[in-house]
Amino acid sequence: MSVAIHRPDDQSADAPADALDRARTAAAADPDGYWRDHGRCVDWIVPYREVKDTSFDAADFRIRWFADGQLNVSANCLDRHLATRGDQVAIVWEGDEPGETLRVTYRDLHERVCRFANVLKAQGVAKGDRVTLYLPMIVEAAVAMLACARIGAVHSVVFGGFSPDSLAGRIRDCGSRIVITADEGCRGGKRIPLKANVDAALANCPDVASVLVVRRTGGDVAMTAGRDLWYDEAMAQAAPDCTPELMNAEDPLFILYTSGSTGSPKGVLHTTGGYLVWATKTFRDVFDYRDGEVFWCTADVGWVTGHSYVVYGPLASGATTVMFDGVPNYPDHGRFWETIDRLGVNIFYTAPTAIRALMREGDDWVKRSSRASLRLLGSVGEPINPEAWRWYHDVAGDGRCPIVDTWWQTETGGIMIAPSPHATDAKPGSATKPLPGVQPQLVDAEGQVLEGATEGNLVIADSWPGQMRTVWGDHERFVQTYFTTYPGKYFTGDGARRDADGDYWITGRVDDVINVSGHRMGTAEVESALVAHAKVSEAAVVGMPHDVKGQGIYAYVTLNADTAPSDELRDELRRWVRKEIGPIAVPDALQFAPGLPKTRSGKIMRRILRKIAEGDTSSLGDTSTLADPSVVDALVRDRVG
Ligand code: WT7
Repeated sequence: MSVAIHRPDDQSADAPADALDRARTAAAADPDGYWRDHGRCVDWIVPYREVKDTSFDAADFRIRWFADGQLNVSANCLDRHLATRGDQVAIVWEGDEPGETLRVTYRDLHERVCRFANVLKAQGVAKGDRVTLYLPMIVEAAVAMLACARIGAVHSVVFGGFSPDSLAGRIRDCGSRIVITADEGCRGGKRIPLKANVDAALANCPDVASVLVVRRTGGDVAMTAGRDLWYDEAMAQAAPDCTPELMNAEDPLFILYTSGSTGSPKGVLHTTGGYLVWATKTFRDVFDYRDGEVFWCTADVGWVTGHSYVVYGPLASGATTVMFDGVPNYPDHGRFWETIDRLGVNIFYTAPTAIRALMREGDDWVKRSSRASLRLLGSVGEPINPEAWRWYHDVAGDGRCPIVDTWWQTETGGIMIAPSPHATDAKPGSATKPLPGVQPQLVDAEGQVLEGATEGNLVIADSWPGQMRTVWGDHERFVQTYFTTYPGKYFTGDGARRDADGDYWITGRVDDVINVSGHRMGTAEVESALVAHAKVSEAAVVGMPHDVKGQGIYAYVTLNADTAPSDELRDELRRWVRKEIGPIAVPDALQFAPGLPKTRSGKIMRRILRKIAEGDTSSLGDTSTLADPSVVDALVRDRVG
């Protein structure tokens, strides 16, 4: 299963790999010493003396890194580059329309961030306050994030695809009193009514006192006097300098909501020092970023990938980072490749779902471009199937660019398992080995550590600097969710296989989380949206295989006794979920079920529902313990898709 990658310029292909092995050994033997050195990849205003102060044991639980050090993230991303690369392009913005491009230098970005920091202050935002961002992929999104970091405010970016209700829930949960948005977003030639969504959300957020609105399209939007302000007008009045706030390493940097296996989305909290070290170090090491190169991560800043590898990692490293406000198939299926040529992209980082979608459209779209600038390709968000990997490597990368398949999570802050960018042997579908300082283990259901070539549940045995510190407002939920399944270890929620070479192959979630196009969706969230509909009495949601999305959403819905199933109602429920959560939560398949398979104690047997959704109805296992085994026959008979 290995593919030789030809690197003509590399005389000593083995050396980087050896160095990586040595770093792994050093980090495992002496984490404190290793991070004492590598924590210096960012600039500290007050250097740390303490390094690692962590324990996953319940009695003594704590996660603190570089705790007596002080720094500012925006100073790291901006000020420290001004003397050496003030006129270098920091952000290349590429709009929805090809060639709608804007280049912002480090000096220009610094000034914009300072101005916006002053705008926030004028709105009464102070250190520790939460600021919600609901924006398209525009430069102002990075400006707003960095401006928050500059004054010590905590940003919570909400993906522009989420509904007003989802946005409102996130605003209320973190208690933010200010929202930054745009009049409208543009995606694939369509307009997204961001400001109107904010207005709808704020009907249920009485504490929000101000809304700053960026003019993106110039579309006509309602402005509420005394609450809503135009971004450009506020910026014009703001002073162009602002001293960065001195932040403690463990002060919060941002909250990012993500779906879990139960309940509503959790506010994952990342702090200042450890997160920045992790985003910066992994950016440099995994992508082997070289001065002057153009780095393009296609993720939206509404997800963690956009935080760590569009904004923080690249800018802290003085890189040129691309912000893309479009989609892979607009105006046509050649968009990525045409844009790579036009912008001279050297490193390209995207998700398997996009690769699969483009692969289906044929090689011609790719071959119209030269892609001569490309040097390295990355993949993130879900397992990449070997067929998509090969196409990415052979067609998109012309067989000459290594692929780094990077495994990580919102919770981990940055990449955890990834191949060396110099690897001469690659295994399509394997993220291969942990980065130095990451200690993965595979455990069985009882928590026994499994050795050698095996398969099990993926845990991380010890802390790393980029680790999330808590769930906003609910520390107990943090400890419960991640550290009680296998006491003393961080449980990822993923399953994985390890081969005889020690390489990891992530097999996917083992909990009730579905990975739809590389985005996490909790089955419980979709279920609660469905049962909130007046005609629904019960719902169960599971994942199903999907050619392009990786996983699709399969919903079983039991209607109220007086309601008859119909195609119209199916459409109505799909629209309902879209309104309640957003387009990414809409079920791909929706089956009306007269009853759900339950144990006598009333627990839904998801194992059976998953099998039916997968179309694997020949091996449903023992159904005799069900309260009513006959419901299974009805489910199998009426399976959809
Ligand atoms: C889940 C985390 C990490 C940024 C994007 C998603 C899956 C992520 C890979 C990969 C196999 C992957 C896992 C993980 N995942 N990267 N390279 N190979 N699976 O962040 O929304 O927090 O989702 O994405 O299942 O647990 P996220």
